[in-house]
Amino acid sequence: MEKILLPAVVSLSVFFCSMRGVSASPRPRRIFVLATGGTIAGEAASPSEIIDYRAGVLGVDALLDAAPEICNFAEARGEQLCNIDSKDMTDEIWRRLALRVNELLASDEADGIVIAHGTDTMEETALFLSLTVESEKPVVLTGAMRPATAENADGPRNLLDAVRVAASQEAEGKGVLVVMDGVIHDARDVEKTHTTSVAAFASREAGPLGRVGENGVIFDRVTSRNGRLKFSAGAPLPRVDVLYGCEGDDGALARASLQVGAKGIVYAGLGNGSIPAPVEKILARAADEGVIVVRASRVSGGAVVSSGSTKFLDSGSLNPQKARVLLRLALTKTNDAEEIRQMFRDY
Ligand code: SIN
Repeated sequence: MEKILLPAVVSLSVFFCSMRGVSASPRPRRIFVLATGGTIAGEAASPSEIIDYRAGVLGVDALLDAAPEICNFAEARGEQLCNIDSKDMTDEIWRRLALRVNELLASDEADGIVIAHGTDTMEETALFLSLTVESEKPVVLTGAMRPATAENADGPRNLLDAVRVAASQEAEGKGVLVVMDGVIHDARDVEKTHTTSVAAFASREAGPLGRVGENGVIFDRVTSRNGRLKFSAGAPLPRVDVLYGCEGDDGALARASLQVGAKGIVYAGLGNGSIPAPVEKILARAADEGVIVVRASRVSGGAVVSSGSTKFLDSGSLNPQKARVLLRLALTKTNDAEEIRQMFRDY
């Protein structure tokens, strides 16, 4: 599958039309739609094909054209940041994305941002942005589970919903959000929980923040966690590996990870973050030498709570891939295990 990665912002388009239903507003809300690829921009050979397709093909103009109702809610501007399958997301694109979001939101040009993104790494990008975006203005990620060419494509609806949320005043100060299938999620809590369903996202421990649909944009709850931690988007991210725990793990992968220079390891442990004895020995030695080890869990419900061990940190309710993002950012600031432990508690 060939991927197209474009070097910088490659296109900017403005999606103007006459506004309806926003008469109370002094002026239309200006929402930038930053497109990065994914299934929402995917193309298949036929309208009935929803599994075999190429992600990250169509440009941002095509995405906006497919959701013409957007102009009832906002003045949307499209910008193509890259066009990839999100399995190929890189630190470089993350950095560029966060810098662009911060730049736009610091200006008068944008009242909010929507990011069209592949669903496979959406939760990680959302978490990264929630820790690096400095504005109170809304930032909303969305995507699709079916390619744009599918007869029942979910992308246009998701894009419309995301713009509605980004254009709503209620979304201000709520941190980075993910909107999929009519549900509004907090970047911290949202996870991809289904391989193919259009209802692929859930916020398992905390529950979703709200909904968007016929009744408008409705937030059912607020979160007090947003904004407690912030990191610079520009700092190089150190290597942190996720190791998946399983019966019979003899530590070979832990050794390999340390050999290639991991500064941190997230162990997706068994149950409440338990680590098989041979691996635990290796990781304890690594922790003594300054590698930060975080116990997460391969179990999809519940949080990892302290075992009383002081050598290892606990991921809490962050899943392994999200704990990795936080740990990488934390390591750009400090190598002190206690400081990082506090960051995991705060976030
Ligand atoms: C991707 O993550 O880019 C492909 C899968 C998807 O968007 O659903």
